[in-house]
Amino acid sequence: MAAAVEISLPNGLKYSQPTGLFIGNEFVPATGEKFAVINPATNEEVITLPGASEADVDKAVAAARRAFEGEWSELAAVDRGSFLYKLSELIDRDRKLLASIDAFDNGKARHTYTDALEGDIDESYNVFKYYAGAADKITGRTIETSPAKLAYVLQEPLGVCGQIIPWNFPFMMLAWKVAPALACGNTVVLKPAEQTPLSALYFGKLVVEAGLPAGVVNIIPGIGSVSGKALAGHMDVDKIAFTGSTNTGRAIMKSAANNLKNITLECGGKSPSIVFEDADLDQAAKWCHSGIMYNQGQVCTSTSRIYVHEAVYDDFLKRFVEITKENARVGDPFSSETWQGPQVSQAQYDKILSYIEEGKSSGARLLHGGSKHGSKGLFIEPTVFADTTEDMKIIQEEIFGPVVAISKFSTEAEAIAKANDTSYGLAAALFTEKISKAHKVARKLQAGMVWINSSNDSHFGIPFGGYKSSGIGRELGQYALDAYTQSKAVHVNLGSRL
Ligand code: NAI
Ligand code: MG
Repeated sequence: MAAAVEISLPNGLKYSQPTGLFIGNEFVPATGEKFAVINPATNEEVITLPGASEADVDKAVAAARRAFEGEWSELAAVDRGSFLYKLSELIDRDRKLLASIDAFDNGKARHTYTDALEGDIDESYNVFKYYAGAADKITGRTIETSPAKLAYVLQEPLGVCGQIIPWNFPFMMLAWKVAPALACGNTVVLKPAEQTPLSALYFGKLVVEAGLPAGVVNIIPGIGSVSGKALAGHMDVDKIAFTGSTNTGRAIMKSAANNLKNITLECGGKSPSIVFEDADLDQAAKWCHSGIMYNQGQVCTSTSRIYVHEAVYDDFLKRFVEITKENARVGDPFSSETWQGPQVSQAQYDKILSYIEEGKSSGARLLHGGSKHGSKGLFIEPTVFADTTEDMKIIQEEIFGPVVAISKFSTEAEAIAKANDTSYGLAAALFTEKISKAHKVARKLQAGMVWINSSNDSHFGIPFGGYKSSGIGRELGQYALDAYTQSKAVHVNLGSRL
C-alpha cells in the first residue's frame, strides 16, 4: 500500500491525502519519476509524489481491461447509474474539502475559494447526477430496411478509456470525463495534471466508498511526457479523451494513431468578444472582465481578445479599467477579500510575464497592471492592453493568464473577420441589444460555443468543444454519450428472400 499523508489546509481543514497510484481499488506505490506538489500562493513545496512509470500504466490498463470484461459489463445500466448517483452524493458530502484541496493546489480564488466550491465542485456533483440518470437512457434505433428485413442499432461502450486532464479545473475536468465514460459502460484510466494531482487521488477514496467494482476507475498521477504519452500510445486503450494545449493534443493524436483510438480533444483557444455600438456597455464591460480574468485567466474559453466598435471604444475602455481596478484584489485564495489568486506554477507565471513584456515592446497601450504582484507566490497583476493590432503575438497566441488585448473596429464585417482571424475556434462572445444582429453574427463566428450578452457560460447539458485547432469532438450533455459509445448495426432477415 502507498502511504497517506496528513495535510492541514490554510483554512484549517485537515485530511488524509492518499499518495501513489489508485489501481484496482487500492492505493499502490508508483515506480516512476517524482514530482513536487506546490502551493502556488507561497510557491513552496507541499509534498513530492511519485509518478506513474510506463510499467505502472500497463498495470492500470490491465486492471481497467479486467473490470471492463468482468463484473462491470454484467451490470444493468440502471445499476451503473446507481453507482454514479452514489459518487455524486459523496462529492456533495465532501464539497468543502474538495474545494479547499483544489483552492490549495491550484490557487483558485475570487471571494475565498467560492469558485472552487460553487463553480467546480457543485458542477461536478451535477455532472455525476446527470450521467447517473443518463446511464439507462442510452438507446439505439430500429430501422426497417425492406418488408422482409430490419436492422437495429446497439450503442455499446468503447472499452478502456484513457483520460488526460489539465490543472485549471482539477476536479471538474475529472467529473466531465469520468462520469459519461462510466455511464456508457466503459472503464477508465485517468491521468491528472502533475501540477494538481491531489483531488483526483482523493476521489479514489470515494470510488472505494461508493463500492464500485475494482478496476472500473484507475487514477495515475505522473509526468505528461511519460505516463500521459504511454497511456495515449497504449495498444490496449480504446479511447483517449484529453483537455490541454493544442500542441500536446497534436502529440496525443499521433500517439493514438497506432491502434486508431477513438479520440476527443479539447484544446487551446484565443476567444474573442465583440462589443457592438448598441450594446449595454455596463453589462458588456462586466462580462468581458470576468470572461478573461476569472480563474486567473487560466480558462481554455477565456475571452482574451476584445473588439469594440469605434463609437463606444473610449467609453468601454473607461468602464473596463474601472471594473479591473475594483477587482484587482490579488492575493491569498482563502481570504474573503481576494478576487484573483496566484497562477498555478512557476512555468505558467514566467510564460505570462514574458507575454506581458512582449505586449509592452510591441507597442500596445498598457492601461492596467503589467507586472508581477507582491514578492512571494505566483501572483500577477490583472493586465489590460489597448490599441492592439492583429499581427501582435499577444493577439495571436494563447497566454493563459490575466492579460487582455482590446482594439477597435468600424464595421460588422471587420469585427467578424478579426474575431475569426485565429487558428483557434473554441468560443466567442458578442454584445448587442439588436436581436437580429446577435443571431446573424453568432452564425458567422467560427467557434464551438457562442455567448450572446454574456461570457464563459457552460452547462452540463450543453455540448462543449471547439472548431479548428481548438479540438475534436464534444463533451457534456447527450453529445458525451456519443463520444463514449460505438454503434453496432445488427441486420435481421425475417423471411427467406436473398
Ligand atoms: P499540457 O497540454 O501539456 O498538459 C495537459 C495534460 O497533458 C497534463 O495532464 C499533462 O501531464 C499531459 N501531457 C503533457 N504532455 C503529454 C504527452 N506528450 N502525452 C500525453 N499527455 C501529455 O499543458 P501545460 O504544459 O500544463 O500548459 C501549457 C499551456 O497549455 C498553457 O499555457 C495553456 O496555454 C495550455 N493549456 C490549456 C488548457 C485548456 O483547458 N485547454 C489547460 C491547460 C493548459
Ligand atoms: Mg499545485
